[in-house]
Amino acid sequence: MEQREARKWAEARLSPHRLAHVAGVAAMADELAQRFDADAKTCRLAAWLHDLLKEESEADLAAEAARRDLPEPLCLPFLLHASVMGARSQAELGVEDEVAEAISYHPIGRPGLGKIGQILYLADKLEPGRQYDGVEELRALARSDLASGLFATVQAICDFQTGRPDPSPVHPLTEQWLIELRGGRTRSQRTF
Ligand SMILES: [Fe+2]
Repeated sequence: MEQREARKWAEARLSPHRLAHVAGVAAMADELAQRFDADAKTCRLAAWLHDLLKEESEADLAAEAARRDLPEPLCLPFLLHASVMGARSQAELGVEDEVAEAISYHPIGRPGLGKIGQILYLADKLEPGRQYDGVEELRALARSDLASGLFATVQAICDFQTGRPDPSPVHPLTEQWLIELRGGRTRSQRTF
């Protein structure tokens, strides 16, 4: 599947607000791909597809997740739009495994996440429409160093989730990923 076709789908299916976010994610994914030597077309494809099901009903998504026999950790309500789209992209759209992985795990990440998934995660959290304390610093860091930007962004999202008045638990895969990223960042810093 070509990213142009995915873009047309997004334009036809999503509300203006969501479409503006997705367009921002595609632009930032393109930029990060070019900076960090990933395939920009593939990253834009993942970006245009990543929230395509975000406005579908939870009941429909849960039914499709059950039909596709998705594992339980990917069936939490807030994850269904991602995990179902990842599985559907792989089964029906013929996308590469790494694109399907990027879409499936974009809300939470996971240990060992590939470069397309790393770029999509960052673009989703840092695209130009995102406004929150510290986002400018995270954007600047992500643009200069993928590993450090990723670690800082995942840490910031975890801190936000656990520190707000109505805290929500961090997904176990995100916790494991953060530990992995902390180790990787330490290793890369030792080389300088
Ligand atoms: Fe998104």
